[in-house]
Amino acid sequence: MTTDERPRVTMDEITALAKRRGFIFQSSEIYGGIGGFFDYGPLGAILKRNVKDAWWREMVELRDDVVAFDSSIVMHPSTWIASGHVANFSDKMVDCRNCKHRFRAEHLPSLKNCPDCGMGDTLTEPRAFNLMLQTSIGPMEDSASRAYLRPETAQGMFVNFKNIYQSARKRPPFGIAQIGKSFRNEITPGNFTFRMREFEQAELEYFVPDDGNDLAAYEQWVVARKQWYSDYGVREDRLRFYELTETERPHYAKAGTDVEYLFPWGWGELESIAHRGTYDLDAHMALSGKDLTYFDEASKAKYTPILIESSAGMDRTTLTMLVDAYDNETVTDPESGKVTTRVVLRFHPKIAPVQVGVFPLARNKTELVERAHHIERALRGHFRTQYDEGNVGQLYRRQDEIGTPYCIMVDYESLADGTVTVRDRDSMHQDRVDATQLRAYLGERL
Ligand code: GAP
Repeated sequence: MTTDERPRVTMDEITALAKRRGFIFQSSEIYGGIGGFFDYGPLGAILKRNVKDAWWREMVELRDDVVAFDSSIVMHPSTWIASGHVANFSDKMVDCRNCKHRFRAEHLPSLKNCPDCGMGDTLTEPRAFNLMLQTSIGPMEDSASRAYLRPETAQGMFVNFKNIYQSARKRPPFGIAQIGKSFRNEITPGNFTFRMREFEQAELEYFVPDDGNDLAAYEQWVVARKQWYSDYGVREDRLRFYELTETERPHYAKAGTDVEYLFPWGWGELESIAHRGTYDLDAHMALSGKDLTYFDEASKAKYTPILIESSAGMDRTTLTMLVDAYDNETVTDPESGKVTTRVVLRFHPKIAPVQVGVFPLARNKTELVERAHHIERALRGHFRTQYDEGNVGQLYRRQDEIGTPYCIMVDYESLADGTVTVRDRDSMHQDRVDATQLRAYLGERL
């Protein structure tokens, strides 16, 4: 990390804010938590939903060449044999015989000393550890009933390729998209919601004909994904598109790009975009014996389409939005000259869990309270609104910390002339707006 890439925020600040304001909690916290699992609180659930909706809108709704899909989490175990997950989806792990801690071999600087207890010669030889979480189906817990919780959503789309293109009447180039939970028994989950054991993926599988335009299609998806992050305001200088070299990509992949964000601990992968050739469909055809080729009516020819995949982690993208939005700002009161600091989340308005906060100037003045409730109710169907009351300074502080772009204050002037103040989160500038014009005023800005 270079000096100008130094983090503006620590992960401790992010986790503290996430808990304090109800974005993310440790799962089963009252029982001491469970490693690699997290719960999204009232604001976090909306934030993550907004991230998923933003992905879905661009990748499915605004396109006529991508269809929606939603496959089951547990699939026939053969799926994972064909995909290579049973044989190869493993990390090398090392245990310390003294302190019993477990490490990923690739994370250890040497296999001589345990990095936690410092003892020498206590580490076991690296052993392969399969990352798929297992479950059993039916009343008997034997090897015949063993099944896996999917480690990626993609395979559901591959095994259904024929069902989908026939029922949706699509011909390549076309894509299939789904958002759903995936599970990986990570050896060392960590960095908050970055490496989890249960997480959500948004995956696009785009099938193209073998007509020489496959690399161009891959490039188009890289450009489209760059545009997506830019549209939702992720800082350009903290995002990079790293092109994998031939040795870094799987043997069957013709090209690959990792989308990475500069987190407080360094660069971390948010998404992988890959040209996967015909590998996945070929593997399922070989094991199932079923035909997953595309039959082109026009040319009366059968072929296996080439696959371009974009696979993004929704928890990592949500974490990116939180980290990227975080700002700790020094502000000077224009009247008193007093210098204070404020924490503000500068969320993109489409991502912000609350878009408009509405408050009465005094909670004990019935007319102000009723007017504020009335305004909030009138805006509720159009924006994500929240009514709140209390000390004015604290109200703004709280809305800044949850990233609300606009706050409306109902004061005594409002009762006299029907206007309210609207405060802009980022500039803290206040406008006086006629309450009847609020919907138009906010609509232009949100
Ligand atoms: N179908 C391709 C695939 O699954 P991947 O690079 O293994 O590719 C795609 O995963 C994305 O899923 C990653 O870029 C990341 O955002 C997310 N992801 C993977 N493992 C994760 C984990 N343990 N916790 C949170 N997100 C994870």
